Amino acid sequence: MNFETNKDVLDWYERQERSLTDEFIADIPWHEVKDHPLDKRFIPVLLYMRDVETLTDMYHRELLRTPTGRDPHIRKFMERWGVEEITHGEVLNRFLNEAGYETDADWQEQVRRDVSPKYNATAYGLTMLTKLIGKKFTATHMTFGAIHEMEAALGYRRLMALAKHPVLTHILNGILREESVHAQFYRSVARLELERNEFSRKMARWVIEKFWAPVGQGSLAKSRTEYAISVLFAEEGALAGVEKTVTQRVQQLPGFQGITKITDVISEMAGQPTPAMETA
Ligand SMILES: [Fe+2]
Ligand SMILES: [Fe+2]
Repeated sequence: MNFETNKDVLDWYERQERSLTDEFIADIPWHEVKDHPLDKRFIPVLLYMRDVETLTDMYHRELLRTPTGRDPHIRKFMERWGVEEITHGEVLNRFLNEAGYETDADWQEQVRRDVSPKYNATAYGLTMLTKLIGKKFTATHMTFGAIHEMEAALGYRRLMALAKHPVLTHILNGILREESVHAQFYRSVARLELERNEFSRKMARWVIEKFWAPVGQGSLAKSRTEYAISVLFAEEGALAGVEKTVTQRVQQLPGFQGITKITDVISEMAGQPTPAMETA
């Protein structure tokens, strides 16, 4: 797809229908969840994904305080995007409950409360920094978003392939359709913003090279990120997926030729021994 303005990208996004409609969710064969085995080692991964989805709301609010949040098209996108990610978290939580892993009624509150103070301090610092840099930081925000969406989608595909649970597969296919729309939005706006000027390209690449980490790291405990990555990507061949569906697409963005950061970080993390994790 060839977009010329952020408005074109937003118009395209608004033409995309939701996959996780109320009907889709009601029609999920929830009563069949327990009929299929679910390996315990995936529980912390599902909880991690649920929490990452839930915290996008926090990220959304932070972004609204920056010049990026003042772009009317990005703002409009983020309103719906935030709602969609919250749904993803809720559906994953319901799946866990149906599988026999009960969660507290106020789990969403708990997730937000448990965000480390260090993250909040860093987020505050970054918000201040982006205010100083202004509009030219939008390219960085959008590139970050694109990478996170592509990486999250790949994580879901890996989980689907490994867990082989038919109901989970059905749910994740629904989520994945929305993630691919998100990735397309971010990638398209990132491209337009990066094309604008050299400073935006240099800044975006510098920030990604220096600070990129798997989605959720920073706001959630690092051991949880490491666990999820090692479960999902330790298998031989998994890194080829990272290379093909994330790294090579990032390399196509203006100013990102030859970047290997994402594959490097994930392969290093996946190579580490799986840390011991509580499963419930
Ligand atoms: Fe999501
Ligand atoms: Fe997403």
